[in-house]
Amino acid sequence: MKTTIIMMIFCLVLTNASSNRITEKKDEDPKPKPWPEQFHSVLVINNTKKNELQVTDLWYDWPNGRNLNLIQKQLGKLLYDVEWNNGTSYYYTLDATSECRTVLFDVGILRPNWLEGATYLGQQHMDGFLCNVWQKVDFLWYYEDVVTRRPVYWLFYTGRAVHVITFEEGAVLEDSQWQAPVYCFNKKEEKEEQQQIDGYPHQFLRDIMPLVFT
Ligand SMILES: *[C@@H]1O[C@H](CO)[C@@H](O)[C@H](O)[C@H]1NC(C)=O
Ligand SMILES: *[C@@H]1O[C@H](CO)[C@@H](O)[C@H](O)[C@H]1NC(C)=O
Repeated sequence: MKTTIIMMIFCLVLTNASSNRITEKKDEDPKPKPWPEQFHSVLVINNTKKNELQVTDLWYDWPNGRNLNLIQKQLGKLLYDVEWNNGTSYYYTLDATSECRTVLFDVGILRPNWLEGATYLGQQHMDGFLCNVWQKVDFLWYYEDVVTRRPVYWLFYTGRAVHVITFEEGAVLEDSQWQAPVYCFNKKEEKEEQQQIDGYPHQFLRDIMPLVFT
């Protein structure tokens, strides 16, 4: 009798412990890996609504407060988009057209932890990789490789689909490459208005500005 009671208590404790573990596991959904402070990535971007393709070299450099997108539109121009954390963005070409627009935003560049607080949606295959998928509010879906935890793909609700082709952690672009050309400096800055273009959240405005230029 005594042993039976002891056994029952033991079993109760065991059941309790294992059910605890299950609830804990539920609370611990995977979190997206923060971006490395410096990296270089080649991105293939499909503007799926317009069916336009571009290849972008992204140089993210958080310690130096800067972010560069080198945007090559398919059979089109090569556009530089240099974004500084103080809010200034330079958009320019280095060809004979010597175009430049300087825009002042009231937000900095994306922080390495910009995905914090995203909602976990489970696992899905994307571009042939098994990925964890998160949704950031209502405007972005982010796919991260389950094994390597590198980003594979993200999609803006506007239909801009970004495929990550290379992801070199720690790669840094040399200083001279960040210097906007002289013709950027002899006209006045445009002040970007507070309202959102196309319903875009403000911190992504800088990222879509180049698409506004033709
Ligand atoms: C780009 O997106 C469109 C629309 O979803 C699709 O039809 C097309 O195949 C895509 N292009 C590439 C190269 O993936
Ligand atoms: C921000 O930094 C860049 C690069 O140093 C500079 O060219 C620009 O004038 C600065 N903008 C402001 C508003 O201070």
